[in-house]
Amino acid sequence: MTGTTDMAEAGETRALGREGQPREQVLEALDQLTQGDVDWRSGRILTGLYDPGEHAYELTREAYSRFLTQNALYINMYPSAGRMEQGVIRSLADLLQGDEQVVGSMTSGGTESIMLAVKAARDHACARRPELVDPEIVLPITAHPAFHKAAHYLGLRIVVTAVESEGFRADVDAFAAALGPNTVLGVGSAPNFSHGTIDPIGEMAAAASERGILFHVDGCVGGIYLSFMRRLGEPVRPFDFSLEGVTSISADMHKYGYAPKNASVLLYRSRELREHAFFVCSGTTEYAVINPTVLSSRSAGPIAASWAVLRHLGEVGYERIVRESWQATRAMVEGIGQIKGVDVLAMPDMCMFTLGSEELNIFELDDEMRERGWSLLPQFACGGGPANLHVSVSSSNVPHVDRFLSDLREAADALLSRGPSVDREAMAREVEAVADRPLGEVLTRLVVLAGLKGLDLPERMAPLNTILDLLPAQTRDQLLTTYINAS
Ligand SMILES: Cc1ncc(COP(=O)(O)O)c(C=O)c1O
Repeated sequence: MTGTTDMAEAGETRALGREGQPREQVLEALDQLTQGDVDWRSGRILTGLYDPGEHAYELTREAYSRFLTQNALYINMYPSAGRMEQGVIRSLADLLQGDEQVVGSMTSGGTESIMLAVKAARDHACARRPELVDPEIVLPITAHPAFHKAAHYLGLRIVVTAVESEGFRADVDAFAAALGPNTVLGVGSAPNFSHGTIDPIGEMAAAASERGILFHVDGCVGGIYLSFMRRLGEPVRPFDFSLEGVTSISADMHKYGYAPKNASVLLYRSRELREHAFFVCSGTTEYAVINPTVLSSRSAGPIAASWAVLRHLGEVGYERIVRESWQATRAMVEGIGQIKGVDVLAMPDMCMFTLGSEELNIFELDDEMRERGWSLLPQFACGGGPANLHVSVSSSNVPHVDRFLSDLREAADALLSRGPSVDREAMAREVEAVADRPLGEVLTRLVVLAGLKGLDLPERMAPLNTILDLLPAQTRDQLLTTYINAS
């Protein structure tokens, strides 16, 4: 959850004043603004940060700023942007074992890539089946929310299928049974973000293909990483274009491609499929819009930075990073096995996993770890799994594995000896008692229960997260919307 901004703070941070300020003053003010931020260079951020190390970082910064201003919408004016984009796309198509027919687009991130894959599938199906009025996507509960967002924006229905309790991989039978006459796209993850496990993509894509249905692999977080793991000789379940039924793959440069945000690649099995992702409009007084992506104007900066980091690291550089971070992940998983009160919920297929506990309130463990300088990501109970803390290991975490394990042991021991400070049972009773009341009433009661003062987030998040975990997802979504909208 994000922080809040009250009116006084908004006054202080309002950007536009009557007189302009000199450069140094503005930069100092920017530095001031970061005071409440986590230190992203600390090596203790275990989610949402992909830091390639000093040299590569400086290079991407330089490349990004050189192309910051150029608009990649106008590739006629800046053919360099088009050439760099093709260079990145071809590199990823090779990694993901695509042939010369595979084409792609660069987007602003995983969500945009997924939206385009869904749009392409919808329009592809509707072009072939004009009678189709209620198109659906079939996906496991572990698929990223971006698919739900795409369905929401594009007017599709989502059919969610179960995962196996061990490993949280898609249940192939449940997935195949859910594919029907309205299905326009099946989805699998390589891997899912929550648990770092790869779905049985081969069987799922084959089930879709037998029925003439397109199949998207969400390789946003894993596409690049897993390709290098395979090259290192590690066992990796097949997940890419080497499988015939796979028709599109998303792979983010701004995750384990180690480019700065916003950079992702969406690959299509064929030019014919990509055409359905396009939006073209030349019938207004304006210039002709020809968009292969959701964004129209876009900076060439992320494209240049992606091209630069691929060139700089080379296959050897990525292999080194993958080898080191995979070794670090295995050391973490093994070390956690020796810590009382904490478990890894599923053996991961790459460098991300989840921590759960049968004895501790996992959200209290999150608070304890935050006090020790670590940022992990709380996730609510879902899909047959309990509430947990997500960990993504990247290059900058590698030197800090021992410290992570000793802090985790200390945090778990502290909680075990102190006992819980959040009374989950009492909270469950309260949540039950207000469940049928109007939303405003639920919110008021729960704000008190969570110990919130106004809209500012508390230092210790465990009470709030415990309550959110106890709520049904739909109520939780409504509450979060109301809360964030008010802040
Ligand atoms: C598997 C997966 N898919 C999609 C996304 C969405 O990517 P983005 O945040 O770049 O939009 C993520 C983000 O973590 C992810 O892990």
